[in-house]
Amino acid sequence: MVKIIVKLKSKSYPILIESGLIYDPKAWPLYDSDRVMLVTNTSIASLYLNKLIKSFNLANINVDTIILPDGEQYKSLSILNRIFTLLIKKSYGRDAILIAFGGGVIGDLVGFAAASYQRGIRFIQVPTTLLAQVDAAIGGKTAVNHKLGKNMIGAFHQPISVIVDLNCLHTLSKRQFYSGLAEIIKYGIILDGDFFNWLENNLDLLLTLDLKALMYCVPYCCQLKSNIVTHDEYDQNSRVLLNLGHTYGHAIESYTNYLSWLHGEAISVGMMMAARTSYYLGYLKKEDMDRIQTLLLRAHLPIVGPKDMSPSDYLSYMIHDKKVISNDKKLRLVLPLSIGNADVFSNIENKVILSAIEDSNSDSVTI
Ligand code: GLY
Repeated sequence: MVKIIVKLKSKSYPILIESGLIYDPKAWPLYDSDRVMLVTNTSIASLYLNKLIKSFNLANINVDTIILPDGEQYKSLSILNRIFTLLIKKSYGRDAILIAFGGGVIGDLVGFAAASYQRGIRFIQVPTTLLAQVDAAIGGKTAVNHKLGKNMIGAFHQPISVIVDLNCLHTLSKRQFYSGLAEIIKYGIILDGDFFNWLENNLDLLLTLDLKALMYCVPYCCQLKSNIVTHDEYDQNSRVLLNLGHTYGHAIESYTNYLSWLHGEAISVGMMMAARTSYYLGYLKKEDMDRIQTLLLRAHLPIVGPKDMSPSDYLSYMIHDKKVISNDKKLRLVLPLSIGNADVFSNIENKVILSAIEDSNSDSVTI
């Protein structure tokens, strides 16, 4: 088992990574006296819940469950309210522990429920998608969506532990797996050129769920994320780099009502738009832009946004993004400067942003 500690000023917590970990009671920071509410979705429940509850019962841990519908469109205030209602009806107090058992949607929803129920209770992240295992479950960002913007209502609230079971990747759809690869590729682009090279050389193994490749890649990304969160828990500084492609990607997700695009797919398009913007500004070299595009395509990710979404549609959603500087409405964008190096820019003219979006969305795959 790999153990990575997310070191924070207030409280540190472990990320545990291994195959088959969810059925090992020792991995769970739970005791028989704890009041525990596990929240999951219909897809994960049908695959794992019976066996998991049995293993809790064998360890004398009683767990209540809430099973929510599956999908980004359910990351909403009304679904959040369902969790609160059940917690109140069952007289859960401040000593309760919530378990977020699912992908990024469940993690964000349950994390926000834990952040706000009775002004804050503990929760455990048990990410089941690749995307949540390498990114969303780590670092305490919790939120629900608003029709006008993704993750607009939320809080920073750190879990007490993150339990990553690589076996869960075997029941993930291919499309969901590819979506997670987008966040993995993002780490290479913004932080680590050697890791990007490793991905170029090992992507085919990852695509076959090769355990050795996964056991290198997932902990490596968790460590990169952990380092960033340790240095900038509240997104004031280096953590902003993790948003490469997200301002564009969130626009796609909001525009399509959180219904048809997976998060990783949307940020894949966004990363190409950011790369092209950087290329137009004379920062990113053409060959680096080509390498990014090639790797995204090899990972079966889209690089062109929704057909009916115009550049000005992007811009109108992008100015709601949390990273906008509010007083002058200037967009703050993360742009890659080379493979392994990125920075934040806030003075890019709209016409450059718009033409990068337009050209990225043109039909041709070659740059
Ligand atoms: N997923 C981006 C962050 O945690 O900051």
